[in-house]
Amino acid sequence: MSESFVLVETRGRVGLLTLNRPKALNALNDQLMDELGAALLAFEADAGIGAVVITGSEKAFAAGADIGAMKDWSYMDVYGSEYITRNWETLKRIKKPVIAAVAGYALGGGCELAMMCDIIIAADSAKFGQPEIKLGVIPGAGGTQRLPRAVGKAKAMDMALTARMMGAEEAERAGLVSRVVPADKLMEEAMDAATVIASMSLPSVMMAKECVNRAFEGSLNEGLLFERRVFHSLFATEDQKEGMAAFTEKRKPDFKHR
Ligand code: CAA
Repeated sequence: MSESFVLVETRGRVGLLTLNRPKALNALNDQLMDELGAALLAFEADAGIGAVVITGSEKAFAAGADIGAMKDWSYMDVYGSEYITRNWETLKRIKKPVIAAVAGYALGGGCELAMMCDIIIAADSAKFGQPEIKLGVIPGAGGTQRLPRAVGKAKAMDMALTARMMGAEEAERAGLVSRVVPADKLMEEAMDAATVIASMSLPSVMMAKECVNRAFEGSLNEGLLFERRVFHSLFATEDQKEGMAAFTEKRKPDFKHR
């Protein structure tokens, strides 16, 4: 039996999921995402659970999709297997509220995972970013669509094109996170918020969530599909191979197309 990459706990009516791949800064590989999806579906089906919290470690909520796993993939590997849809969209199907408690890095798919949650509570150490451009690709799990909706075009363009990270205070000012707390208070704050939510009427909680989401989803699905196709197509480029190889070899990328 391989090591579990998601720790599952129940505290009262709150389900707590802790991403647990510390050596890779919680890089989101298929095993981790499969485990996360399965745990979310189990909480969704459990009448004893009213809200869910997802967290990572002090250093990283998650540093993105697993670059080592992706680096040699071809266009058909990603397009053919519907990379991202296979297990990432489980979170979108969950009716119960999900809070992301973010400390440290939330980069690439890590930032996208946090944005798929309903509320982001950040430690003052949190750093959000979409650095995929440095790898010769673009965000592939909603970053180009959810980030502008959260922080506006100006900051989203800045982050997606320069790979600049946004600290917790800036993220709160920009509307990406709902609360910033000292790092040692993060879990207490997130669990308290989840406990309050879980004490409310579950149908109204689920419907309030559904209605707030409707406000943002007018053309989101079109955008997500478009983004996914573009993301997949980048695996046909030399620069994706170079960008990901350079990362794993710990050197600067030498892109052909700049
Ligand atoms: N995938 C795979 N492994 C990763 C990883 C990732 N996304 N991020 C970090 N790691 C691994 C590192 O390779 C390293 O492993 P080794 O010890 O075996 O060498 C370990 O985690 C620790 O990382 P660093 O030594 O790099 O730690 P650091 O403190 O010096 O830097 C960091 C931290 C700035 C987060 C840096 O690790 C980094 O830049 N990570 C990559 C971030 C990134 O590009 N994310 C986007 C991924 S693509 C994506 O997410 C696509 C999508 O939209 C779905």
